Amino acid sequence: MKSIEWLGNSLRILDQSKLPVETVYRNALSYKEVAEAIEHMEVRGAPAIGAAVAYGYALGAIEYQGDREGLPSFMEEVQDRLEATRPTAVNLFWALRRMEDRLRECWEVEDLDEVRRILIEEANRIAEDDCKMNRLIGQHGNEIVPEKANILTHCNAGALATVEYGTALGVIRKAHEAGKNIHVYADETRPLLQGARLTALELMKDKIPVTLIADNMAGYLMQQGKVDLVIVGADRIAANGDTANKIGTYSVAVLAHAHGIPFYVAAPTSTIDLKVATGQEIPIEVRPDKEMRECFGLQVAPSEVNVYNPAFDVTPAKYITGIITEKGIVAPPYSVNLLKLMVRS
Ligand code: MRU
Repeated sequence: MKSIEWLGNSLRILDQSKLPVETVYRNALSYKEVAEAIEHMEVRGAPAIGAAVAYGYALGAIEYQGDREGLPSFMEEVQDRLEATRPTAVNLFWALRRMEDRLRECWEVEDLDEVRRILIEEANRIAEDDCKMNRLIGQHGNEIVPEKANILTHCNAGALATVEYGTALGVIRKAHEAGKNIHVYADETRPLLQGARLTALELMKDKIPVTLIADNMAGYLMQQGKVDLVIVGADRIAANGDTANKIGTYSVAVLAHAHGIPFYVAAPTSTIDLKVATGQEIPIEVRPDKEMRECFGLQVAPSEVNVYNPAFDVTPAKYITGIITEKGIVAPPYSVNLLKLMVRS
């Protein structure tokens, strides 16, 4: 189950909006198709979105029919379209900046096919780096997972949300591979049920013991002593450690704090945005009302009811025990330690 796969001149996208009922792939041949797939959440999860836009950018260069001189302004249009898809996950902007820099570096390359080749190579590198980073996150994160731990996770920060292996689920996978006999509680994650549909599916496929719970059950489980540890992914981490992740993460963090349960965020450094000082500056995507009034085609609320549907929330740094990255685990104070981490090679 690969979230995305480059097929030479198209991007094969596993349509996650249909999982687990149907396994359907879309073969995107244009940057606009990649943008649509991101908006419709066929491909989702911060690192997967980052890699997808990198390939979308390369597809733009493949589509371009004009002369060499006109390429940069066409690529600006491509970038604008891809940037307008989803605002919260910084990996999207990070990957596009890498692609844009690569294009600038080859300003002396006259041959358009050579430019295209260089851009595809860069997108491949972004995807490969993601796979490597996730395995390292898994290795570092495994250190904080006790034997027989009951781990609660929210949304899906797994292989489907990345190019391979996952971040929060990467830590869980590694702990399972290390024979720690862990067990996972997966929050179902309303309104789009990434926990129920995707996390449960991924863990079951890997034979990692998992129990699905509704979002409003987490507090009860914690009160009963059934949760030892929380690990979640991230869409953007501010310079002070405040972390945007799927809506509901903040509630889980507050609950974990109230019950003295460690709460970890697992994310690659491409999710850290030092340009954003605190979580208040992170743009939060508000998604269509329909996602709340309907649940996969079935009406679950009065059709005219007012709806508010923010897709993410921000967990203040004070509730985060540690941030697990490919370079190691960052402890508070985050304002100091994230900066140190980012300057370290
Ligand atoms: O709206 P989604 O499904 O893209 O949200 C995904 C999440 O919030 C993930 O936890 C986050 O992107 C980290 S994925 C490794």
